[in-house]
Amino acid sequence: MAKLAVLGGKPVAEGGLKTPPWPMVDKSDIKTVEEALKGRRWCRIYPGSWAERFEHEYAKWTGAKYALAVSNGTVTLELSLKAGGVRIGDEVIVPAVTFIATASAVSEVGAIPVFADCDPDTAQISPRSIEESITKRTKAIIVVHYGGYPVDLDSIRSIARKHRLLLVEDCAHAHGTRWRGKHAGTIGDFGSFSFQESKSLASGEGGAVITNNRKLFEEASIIHNIGRVVGKPGYGHFILSSNYRLSEIQAALLLSQIKRLKYQTDYKHRMGEFLAKELSKIGGAEPLPRDSRITKRGYYFFIIKYDPKHFGGAHRDKFLRALNAEGIPAGAAYGVPLYKNYAFRRSQIAKVLPPRIIGKLPDYEKLRLPAAEDFCANRQVTISHCLLLSKRPKVQKIIDAVAKIKENSAELAKI
Ligand SMILES: Cc1ncc(COP(=O)(O)O)c(C=O)c1O
Repeated sequence: MAKLAVLGGKPVAEGGLKTPPWPMVDKSDIKTVEEALKGRRWCRIYPGSWAERFEHEYAKWTGAKYALAVSNGTVTLELSLKAGGVRIGDEVIVPAVTFIATASAVSEVGAIPVFADCDPDTAQISPRSIEESITKRTKAIIVVHYGGYPVDLDSIRSIARKHRLLLVEDCAHAHGTRWRGKHAGTIGDFGSFSFQESKSLASGEGGAVITNNRKLFEEASIIHNIGRVVGKPGYGHFILSSNYRLSEIQAALLLSQIKRLKYQTDYKHRMGEFLAKELSKIGGAEPLPRDSRITKRGYYFFIIKYDPKHFGGAHRDKFLRALNAEGIPAGAAYGVPLYKNYAFRRSQIAKVLPPRIIGKLPDYEKLRLPAAEDFCANRQVTISHCLLLSKRPKVQKIIDAVAKIKENSAELAKI
């Protein structure tokens, strides 16, 4: 039996498994950006912009009727909430397992984030917990397709409809994800995307909202352009708002980058299926469940659910240490459920919300959501989407490393 690398043995991936460089850049990206630079129109307020062209391509790719390019995947959420009518003091249900922007966007519009627990099987926000969290002040639900694995959109959409709530899909992780053939973000009222540099479609900073609702699109469009109609520069402003516009340089880069998205999505989907199938054979380091409603799995990260029972009772952190020592770059994503962040201490949140709201806030410091806490502290292991862009022998190394650690379970418990 090969000795574990963490105990001085030879690693499965000697020198560490290198992911393909990300973001990817080639001559055509440089040429397109150069063209945008030389055009000397770097702001989208004029008709015929690069942003408009990108919006057209992005709507086509997702199948949404409308797409609006904006400056990042945080303000996309704020914009969705504002355009969807969320106002100061409203409650917005959000998942506990996500990046902080999902909740900070809520407080940025003066509303109250209310955390729902996750489903222990899928690690995604639980429809039951959403329903239990609804009060008469609830105005919206933001779901996150965490890691790119979709939430149960059938159940959540019917909850949103039943209670007349705005449904925003935070798709920052879900480029390419399809539910019953429909792209993530096209089933709720708004889909919100991030193009920050680590994302599956990247322009350094950037984002987009998509929707099939013309009224919502028009509202979002005018809010994002400091109250002006897009394509009509000048000083006619119809609403007081801010500037969420994407720069033309980034729009040009996105127009070039999007050409790779279909191929990369399909390739990652295939590699993800291969990895999932092989991991299931080992046991104890399980992929998220296969579900025939997920017709394409986009990835921000591949999620493994670790079960210590299969590894001699060793804690997830020991497994992660052993996996890293075998040369596999894996982690535990955001670490803790969001509400455990310092930002949710009453003293901190009081600094950002209007005083009359503070008394209505949930006691985040006392909140306990058992499935989210267990998932974050004991189970989740995440692998970057970039690794799924590797050739199959590299992906095989992940499988070999997990199998090796399992064979050495007795040793693992002692490290
Ligand atoms: C789930 C989720 N939502 C929103 C965002 C915010 O995106 P951005 O960094 O583009 O503001 C991120 C960023 O990582 C994210 O992971």
